[in-house]
Amino acid sequence: MDRIPEFPIHPVSIKLIRAGHPWVTPDTFSNRFPRQAEFVIALDERKRALALLLHDPGHRNIKARVWSTKFPFDREVQHFTAGLQARIDQAFEKREPLRKSRERENYYLVFGEADQLPGLFILRLGDRVLIQFYTSFWNRYKSTILTTLAEVYPEIKEEHTWIQLRGETKELQKLPVNLVDPNRRDEFHLQEFGIQYHIRLGSSYDHGIYTDMSSIRSQLRSVVAPGQRVLNLFCYTGAFSLWALKQGAEKVVSVDLSPKYMEWLQQNLGLNDDLDHKRHESLVMSSDEALGLLKSRGEAFDVIICDPPSSSSDGDKRTSAIKTYRDLLRRMDLVLRRSGKLVIFLNTHQVTSQKFDRVIQDSLGELELSYKLHKRLGLDEDCPTLRGFPEGSYLKGLVLEKQ
Ligand SMILES: C[S@@+](CC[C@H](N)C(=O)[O-])C[C@H]1O[C@@H](n2cnc3c(N)ncnc32)[C@H](O)[C@@H]1O
Repeated sequence: MDRIPEFPIHPVSIKLIRAGHPWVTPDTFSNRFPRQAEFVIALDERKRALALLLHDPGHRNIKARVWSTKFPFDREVQHFTAGLQARIDQAFEKREPLRKSRERENYYLVFGEADQLPGLFILRLGDRVLIQFYTSFWNRYKSTILTTLAEVYPEIKEEHTWIQLRGETKELQKLPVNLVDPNRRDEFHLQEFGIQYHIRLGSSYDHGIYTDMSSIRSQLRSVVAPGQRVLNLFCYTGAFSLWALKQGAEKVVSVDLSPKYMEWLQQNLGLNDDLDHKRHESLVMSSDEALGLLKSRGEAFDVIICDPPSSSSDGDKRTSAIKTYRDLLRRMDLVLRRSGKLVIFLNTHQVTSQKFDRVIQDSLGELELSYKLHKRLGLDEDCPTLRGFPEGSYLKGLVLEKQ
């Protein structure tokens, strides 16, 4: 075995790794890692071995990810495949209760860093599996990952297995590719909390339902009561809308700018005969426009769900969701009944949940609106988070009750 290169890392990275953070970002230290090195041993300020890193020289933001802080690192590398299999097995084992409960066919089997599998995510989507690489490091271990998967879930067919490269930058944002036929497009249905959803693989970056939101839908069961009126802003393919109808909502209004997603929502509704379609209304327009329209119609809601994209562009400038919340809060308040609930989300690792709380509280104060914090929402169940790693807790939500 070749000697694993050892390199000092930035003092800030040393501190972060000691606190449990699993990433090394590009800097004058990490830029010296040899391009061809698969693994790098990070050295601390006294040149002692600190961590074994998985190297990703081509990644723009994350140069390397911590695999282990337990010595001896050369043995870890020698037995890397076995270690990888063991960690995947462990992650699968954790999801057994979910598989057995059959409440949802939409969950993560592996959730990256929090499962000690940095940059590796595996989703179970009905009888399909979607493997997501957030680092191209895993390309070399594709066959180990696939073999481990096949051993534990022999029922998953090869043609139902998909692999996707994902990330924040354009060069990492690829479509899912089918293992057997790279040109395949797949359409099928899956069930979540008794609701059927239409899923597409191979034709779009996202598959039609946000799997990380699934545990949140479960956490929200007590928020929507039968007979209530629900507004779902930025609704995408309508998962929250169908879920609200299933809870017995009297009326659900769904709003999204995208005609494609709104058609997808209609298709989802069409799969669920037990839901009363007459209680649902689609508005294909911006949330701002919809809030204005609903206000002018004199409509009022008991629950408003608001999950904007982390940032949006009007062609000239990018605006982050956190900046638009003040205005959204003002407009939502105008159509929310007294004692009604706002369920608001922020989907970015760039803002911590503390900061999100603060910005919302400050905005409410400036607008002189009185709301009480009812519940905090975040990744849960199949989507664990890691202490010392705020980037992993990218999804945060608040349920606020109007006073
Ligand atoms: C993060 S997704 C919402 C996911 C959804 N809450 C779910 O769990 O399925 C954001 C959605 O906002 C839509 N969108 C973006 N800008 C919008 C705007 N100004 N008004 C309404 N919808 C918008 C996008 O088309 C996309 O479907």
